[in-house]
Amino acid sequence: MTVAITGASGQLGSRAIENLKTRIDPENIIGLARSPDKASDLGIAVRAFDYTKPETQVAALEGVKTLVLIPTGASADRLGWHLNVINAAKAAGVHRIIYVSMLKTDVSPISIMPDHKKTEEAIRAAGLAYTMLRNPWYYEIWTRTLSAAIQSGELISTIGNGKVTPASRQDLAEAVAAVAADDRHENKIYELGGDEQFTFADLAAEVSRQSGKEVRYKNLPQDEYIEFLNASGLPEWQSEIIADAEGHAEHGWLFDDSKTLSGLIGRPTTTLKDAVAAALT
Ligand SMILES: NC(=O)c1ccc[n+]([C@@H]2O[C@H](COP(=O)([O-])OP(=O)(O)OC[C@H]3O[C@@H](n4cnc5c(N)ncnc54)[C@H](OP(=O)(O)O)[C@@H]3O)[C@@H](O)[C@H]2O)c1
Repeated sequence: MTVAITGASGQLGSRAIENLKTRIDPENIIGLARSPDKASDLGIAVRAFDYTKPETQVAALEGVKTLVLIPTGASADRLGWHLNVINAAKAAGVHRIIYVSMLKTDVSPISIMPDHKKTEEAIRAAGLAYTMLRNPWYYEIWTRTLSAAIQSGELISTIGNGKVTPASRQDLAEAVAAVAADDRHENKIYELGGDEQFTFADLAAEVSRQSGKEVRYKNLPQDEYIEFLNASGLPEWQSEIIADAEGHAEHGWLFDDSKTLSGLIGRPTTTLKDAVAAALT
């Protein structure tokens, strides 16, 4: 079995490859990277693979049985790039695509979901075997701003009392490796919330506890939250995506308590306490 993983130079892809190396012979793993040099320290074969260059993709997928498709960041062309890869996979004789999707993508109202939903649909319509890994938000997306919250004493969002179940990139990378190494995950759709569920008030309390400085959760209306994110230096399109997702998270759209993720990786997922500690060190 040969498994190829796109985004091999990225944070999720490289972690997935490191974990997969412990599960199958590294000779059967191929990293696919836009710039192979950036993935040269992974200790596996790396092939050039650019989502924007469909004419090169069939050759790059030669001999691949299982393809892990890690999406690119949100962009106007993302769905088209994913469709290119699916077509190339089919032409190259790939048997299964493992797609790194998002929680509840088939029904979620979050604005970035249509690319994921349509990618899932295209994989199935192509007649390929599949595994859909519907990821929650990464802890790291939320913990990267904690030092600013500690400085100001306020953790700000538009999420209200919504409960979330994030997981770390490492947790989710191990899930990629687990399903890539085992054909029994064929034609399955997994919702992958982390084990721990909490509100942003709980997150603020944990930050207070670990930092020794009082941090309170402050809820803003969505438009004011977008202005706050813009002022913190994010481009407006990114502020809008975050505010939209966190607004919907108030109503449970970034929540999954199935514990499927910990079942797949064979251990509890990263705790809130450990995610905050990792961010503060
Ligand atoms: N669940 C969440 O909370 C969450 C948060 C953020 C993102 N995501 C999604 O999860 C994906 C993986 O996350 P990550 O943390 O690993 O992101 P990352 O570190 O930014 O990795 C993205 C990967 O995509 C590659 N890539 C970008 N454009 C490409 C192209 N045209 N052709 C081929 N490869 C290309 C990058 O290659 P280079 O190294 O060459 O740039 C990189 O390897 C993201 O792309 C995004 O869709 C999820």
